[in-house]
Amino acid sequence: MSEVKEQLGVYAGRVEQYILGQVDQMQRDSSAMDIARLFDAMRHSLTAGGKRIRPALIYAFCEACGGSPDAADAAACAMEMTHTSSLIFDDLPAMDDDDLRRGKPSCHKAFGEATAILAGDALICAPFAIMAADRNLTSDQKVMLVSTLATLEGAGGMVGGQQMDMQFETRDDVTVQELETMCNGKTGALMAAACRMGCICGSGSIRQFDAAGKYGLYVGLAFQIIDDILDVTSTAEQLGKPIGSDAEEHKTTFVTLMGIEKAKARAAELTELAHAQLDAFEHTEFLHALTDELLVRVQ
Ligand code: IPE
Ligand code: IPE
Ligand code: MG
Ligand code: MG
Ligand code: MG
Repeated sequence: MSEVKEQLGVYAGRVEQYILGQVDQMQRDSSAMDIARLFDAMRHSLTAGGKRIRPALIYAFCEACGGSPDAADAAACAMEMTHTSSLIFDDLPAMDDDDLRRGKPSCHKAFGEATAILAGDALICAPFAIMAADRNLTSDQKVMLVSTLATLEGAGGMVGGQQMDMQFETRDDVTVQELETMCNGKTGALMAAACRMGCICGSGSIRQFDAAGKYGLYVGLAFQIIDDILDVTSTAEQLGKPIGSDAEEHKTTFVTLMGIEKAKARAAELTELAHAQLDAFEHTEFLHALTDELLVRVQ
C-alpha cells in the first residue's frame, strides 16, 4: 500500500473512533427519549465506509501548521458529520433519488424518508455542539471553527451549490462558468472549510488560512470533475453508489459539457494550482501526495 493510502487509513481510523464515541455520548444524553431508530440511521450512514477525505484534510493542514492531531479531532468529526448529512439529503427522492450510498442502501431506503431527514438534521446540529465542547481548543479557535463551518456549509456555500444543482436540472444552456460556480458551492465549499479548519486547529497564520481555502476550492472542483467522470466510467460495485445517476436526473456535468478528456485535463490543471498553494506550509509531503492521489482516484 502506498504511504498516502496508509496515512489516509490512519486518519480515517482515528476520526471514525472519535465519531462513534460522540454518537454514543449523544445517545446517552438523550436516553429519556425512545429514539434508537434515529441513532441507528445516523450510524448507518456514518459508518458505511466513506473515504474520510475531508477529515484527512483537517488533520493534514493542522499538522502542516505544526499542530497536533489531538487539536483536530473535534473538527474532523464535525466535518465528516456535516458531509454525511449532505449525502443523506443528496440521495433523497426529492434530490438525486439514489438508493445506494457507500456500498449500502441510502439512509432513506434503509430507514424511510422521515427518519433519514431527521438523521441528516441531527448530523447538521451535532458538529457545532461537539466543537464547542472540545477541551483541546481555545474559545477563539472554537468561534472561528463554528463560523467557518456554518458559513461554508450554508446558503453561501454547500447548500447554495446544491440549490443551483437542482435548478440546473431543468436547463439545457448551463455554461462551464456556471457549472464551476455551482461545484465550488456544492463540493468546493466543504473542502475549503476542511482545509481552513485544519489551519485553525493548528494555529496557522492568516496567510496559511487563505492559502488553505484556495487549495480546498481547487481540489474540490477537481474532485467534483472526477466524480462526474466516475459517474459515467465506473461501476456501482467500485463506487458504492449508483452510476448513471447524473444522466438519469438530467444533470449538466463536466462530462456533458466538455467530454471526458477535456474534463480530465481541467482537473489536472486545477490540481497543479492546488499544489502551488501548499508553498505557504512547511510539512507538506502528505498533502502533495494526497493532491495527486485525488486526481487519479477510482472510488
Ligand atoms: C461524495 O463525496 C460527494 C461529492 C462531493 C462528490 P465523497 O466521494 O468524498 O464521498 P464519501 O465520503 O467517500 O462517501
Ligand atoms: C453532491 O454531488 C454534493 C453534495 C452532496 C453536497 P453529487 O450529487 O454529484 O454527489 P454523489 O455523486 O451523489 O456522491
Ligand atoms: Mg447531487
Ligand atoms: Mg448525488
Ligand atoms: Mg456525483
